[in-house]
Amino acid sequence: MKLLVTGGAGFIGSNFIRYWTVNHPDDEIFNFDKLTYAGNLENLKDVEKNPKYTFIKGDISNPDKVKKAIDGVDVIVNFAAESHVDRSILEPAPFVMTNIVGTQVLLDAALKFKIKRFMHISTDEVFGSLKLKDKSKFNERTNYNPTSPYSASKAGSDHLVRSYYFTYGLPINISNCSNNFGPYQFPEKLIPLVITNILEGKKVPVYGDGLYVRDWLYVEDHCRAIDLIIKKGKIGETYCIGGLTEDINNLSVIKKILNILGKDESVIEYVKDRPGHDRKYSIDWSKIKNELGWSPLHSFDEWLAYTINWYKENQDWWKRVKNKEYIKYYKKQYGSI
Ligand code: NAD
Ligand code: TYD
Repeated sequence: MKLLVTGGAGFIGSNFIRYWTVNHPDDEIFNFDKLTYAGNLENLKDVEKNPKYTFIKGDISNPDKVKKAIDGVDVIVNFAAESHVDRSILEPAPFVMTNIVGTQVLLDAALKFKIKRFMHISTDEVFGSLKLKDKSKFNERTNYNPTSPYSASKAGSDHLVRSYYFTYGLPINISNCSNNFGPYQFPEKLIPLVITNILEGKKVPVYGDGLYVRDWLYVEDHCRAIDLIIKKGKIGETYCIGGLTEDINNLSVIKKILNILGKDESVIEYVKDRPGHDRKYSIDWSKIKNELGWSPLHSFDEWLAYTINWYKENQDWWKRVKNKEYIKYYKKQYGSI
């Protein structure tokens, strides 16, 4: 089988490519990535010599580049996206261009080249926010109600993907997953930002009261879920993917990291809240469990400790990532802290 993985140089995409080369060594993988600030070929250093792996630099919103890359491909796994909420608040335009226009360009090419499956990677953020006291969770029937330019652009892409199934019969699947964590995550997201700031002796910025709840999914569990959907998922279906955490808030996550790194809470700095900040995400993953036999296997505490250790042992990687461009973004987002 030939896979075109878009956004394969990012956090989840690079973990997915590594996972796929190990679990399906006979398959050919083409990694199509624009190499934005978040794309980093160092994430795939151990894979790049694999003869079944090819990197193609390209933008998913460029129809000519996409058509060239897609010829002969069986499955597209679309990770390519602008992925950070705070950046979408600072500058929404690239989110619309990549997440919506780029996805539509890919869909057109998938149709033209009769792709066997278009696997679209989306987020639980399309559903908006739960209330802290809610016992209910997001599931495949939850209405879309996005609140940030990021989640609105991902919602737009989901609607387009589904429309190509209903209108043109394109064989698609969509997955809506919760917050991933693990190695190679760009240190703009909460967990790697906190770990690397602590390792650098810096403050840890907490938005608002810190009592926002996320559902944490270890990246390898996510990769396994995508694998099952590609192999066994029913065409046209959507699957929600979540982790093993029960209503853990940001402050508790940060305190766990501080505890593992042997630091006290004096490094915590409460900063201005994110506008439109969603209070809580929580995923009901019973559909993918019942239909495809998937459950998350990686507990939060154990794999958070593993992830912290990975960042401790790979300081060269994240020190290079925290470059001039990163520092410029950091100052814009956090001021002088
Ligand atoms: P990331 O920001 O780490 O990586 C995105 C990758 O896409 C980068 O390699 C970047 O260079 C590439 N890219 C961006 N624009 C492109 C374009 N126009 N053409 C080609 N490549 C482009 O993101 P991630 O955290 O790995 O997320 C991957 C996908 O999973 C995204 O679609 C995101 O919305 C979704 N998702 C992520 C999370 C999470 O917690 N990280 C949770 C739910 C869903
Ligand atoms: P983030 O990793 O940006 O993921 P998302 O917003 O897509 O869920 O943020 C996770 C949570 O952590 C979210 O509630 C915002 C919060 N947060 C902070 O408190 N401080 C920070 O510096 C960042 C980046 C996030």
